[in-house]
Amino acid sequence: MTNKVRSAVFPVAGRGTRFLPATKASPKEMLPIVDKPLIQYAVEEAVDAGATKLIFITGSSKRAIEDHFDSDPELERALSDSGKDDLLRSIRDIVPKGVTCIYIRQGEPLGLGHAVLCAKSAVGNEPFFVHLADDLIAGDPPCLTQMAGEYARHSSSVIAVETVPHEDTSSYGIVAVNDESRITQIVEKPDPEDAPSNSAVVGRYLLAPEIFDKLETTGRGAGGEIQLTDAIADLLAESAVYAYSFSGERFDCGSKLGYLKATVAYGLDHPDTGDALRAHLRDTLCD
Ligand code: G1P
Repeated sequence: MTNKVRSAVFPVAGRGTRFLPATKASPKEMLPIVDKPLIQYAVEEAVDAGATKLIFITGSSKRAIEDHFDSDPELERALSDSGKDDLLRSIRDIVPKGVTCIYIRQGEPLGLGHAVLCAKSAVGNEPFFVHLADDLIAGDPPCLTQMAGEYARHSSSVIAVETVPHEDTSSYGIVAVNDESRITQIVEKPDPEDAPSNSAVVGRYLLAPEIFDKLETTGRGAGGEIQLTDAIADLLAESAVYAYSFSGERFDCGSKLGYLKATVAYGLDHPDTGDALRAHLRDTLCD
């Protein structure tokens, strides 16, 4: 494997039913945290980690994502004419120079594994990131950058993990590891009594291209879908895959509560809103 990770895959075809009606006509990845949509945080994280090819696996009702990362000369002109330079900068440099966006339609909703397989020809025979935008991670350096450093040490696939309460194992891929953090077992959404641990896969993967061969033959698994977890389980037999406990805080923006927690955390950290939001929360909670 080459040591450079140039491609990042963003599976964004899911319908986001947990946020209906907000996601009826607009993608869940476009939900904003303060002033940026989730998918923009995802792209910024991948670009920070060195990705120059951004591969979006899309579905119906996802046009807004393409529009977001496209240039908008009319809006740029209007902002420039009215001297709103800060706003102009915020929309002009969303995709830095030298970074390409590729959009691939996932014809059928067959699961995360199938979505990743759709990226095969765009990625080629190289390691690549997979980023699930629902999992927003505040990390310094960002989580994918941490993982790229880990990959440089092992030259093997790396998956970000986090300890979760035992009763929540059925919401995640769950791993067992040896003393060197090498994954020995990975299971998709096991019931707590069957889970090999409470170390859960979060939405960041750095995968060797061999995963595509595994995905080609992966049958339907949990929930009747083609699971990335099952292909990784196949990969374990022939390649090392490491679990990586990232440093930072993860917000599950696929859930209403996680989304609200992220909004508060990022709002407190934002120069435009931090002080006023802090004062407001203090007043509201101390009443
Ligand atoms: C997916 C993966 C799961 C992983 C999770 C992280 O599940 O299949 O292994 O733990 O993302 O967010 P989903 O949340 O899409 O059901």
